[in-house]
Amino acid sequence: MRAVDLIRKKRDSGEHSREEIDYLVSAYTHDQIPDYQMAAWLMAAWIRGFSRAELAALTEAMLHSGEVMDHSYLPVKKVDKHSTGGVGDKTSLILAPVVAAGGLAVPMISGRGLGHTGGTLDKLEAIPGFNTFLSLGDFKRVLRECGMALIGQTGEIAPADKKIYALRDATSTVENIGLICASIMSKKLAEGIDGLVLDVKTGSGAFMRKEEDSVALAEVMAETARRMGKKCVALITDMGQPLGRAAGHSNEVIESIHVLQGQGPADLRDLSLELSAWMFLLGERTKTVEQGRTLAVEMVRSGKALEKFRECIRLQGGNPRAIDDTSLLPSARGRLDVKSGASGFIEDINCLDLGIALAMIGGGREKKEDKLDLGVGLEFHKRIGDGVQAGEPLVTISYNVDAQLPAAQKMIAASYQIGDTKPPARPLIRRIIGG
Ligand code: URA
Repeated sequence: MRAVDLIRKKRDSGEHSREEIDYLVSAYTHDQIPDYQMAAWLMAAWIRGFSRAELAALTEAMLHSGEVMDHSYLPVKKVDKHSTGGVGDKTSLILAPVVAAGGLAVPMISGRGLGHTGGTLDKLEAIPGFNTFLSLGDFKRVLRECGMALIGQTGEIAPADKKIYALRDATSTVENIGLICASIMSKKLAEGIDGLVLDVKTGSGAFMRKEEDSVALAEVMAETARRMGKKCVALITDMGQPLGRAAGHSNEVIESIHVLQGQGPADLRDLSLELSAWMFLLGERTKTVEQGRTLAVEMVRSGKALEKFRECIRLQGGNPRAIDDTSLLPSARGRLDVKSGASGFIEDINCLDLGIALAMIGGGREKKEDKLDLGVGLEFHKRIGDGVQAGEPLVTISYNVDAQLPAAQKMIAASYQIGDTKPPARPLIRRIIGG
């Protein structure tokens, strides 16, 4: 087989066989196809797209380029959730302990934040001592002991994706539903799970802004998972405004603890419990989503989920006292309110710009190498539809360094559209695909 023939085939809208896709992925991962040929194929694929069969083959080839974990030593089903990311999206920190406390195993391989979106791993690292670099052996040990474990992608997991993603990043071939699906699913399915709940965001702070694009991605991902014998459901959820009241690292951990203590903002609590309920259903822990909801609520009410989180923190080398004494988390030196310039209703929010403003003060990365300030953050006081008076705070910035503060402040103020009309309520969960 020759790469040049496969590039021509895709360029001319041909459909690859499974053998052809296996060859491309394996030869590229083992440096037998040069970057320039893979880049040409990626661009052809970006333009021409994939059939569902090609997509399943691509995902499988990337999945099997590395280790696929086997947790058959556990007597319970293994489930996970993947979110396409956004601002203030911290549901993993809540649902993993809820679902583990409810009797399923959650082997979670998470990502880091990039651009305006945050990453679960970075948030966990705000907990003093928390180690997200466990070996796969230690990962399994923690999972066996407490039913949940959270680490980052290792060299053993989907190495083909690591190499292909870097090339996509440099050749403007990231934004393609098929390539995104294969990239995400190859990593998630390497966790050795039985079921996966997808939280596909839509709105101004989402990777896919338009609902129809989010739905298309969700359908493709859910079908690919099912073709590979996994249970999968996708929730299309709103990212037209931040989730919860906090964005940043320490303050997102604190807000998650509040939810696990039975407090916290309603939108974050509702979404976390709903995702947990679907995980219970896919993991056959409950027969219906309704029963899953009841179980999730009970895990929080009884304090079992919070205890599970404490146990996981301890097993991963973190200081569990941080749960009771959040002053142990990194903090910020100063606080500054961004005030509303007008009175009226919050008609809309540019959630993307709120994420960028957070990155500007050190709470996000522009490039992979950038170092984060885990103590800085944003606290949101107003949601879409709320009334506001001129001079009332919209957002409080917690900062450590002054340099970017005026620019961030300006960007945050401009992110809020204030007018005379109260907009209709926005449902948090827009659609359920594959339920
Ligand atoms: N996240 C991934 O892991 N892969 C993509 O292709 C896009 C987002």
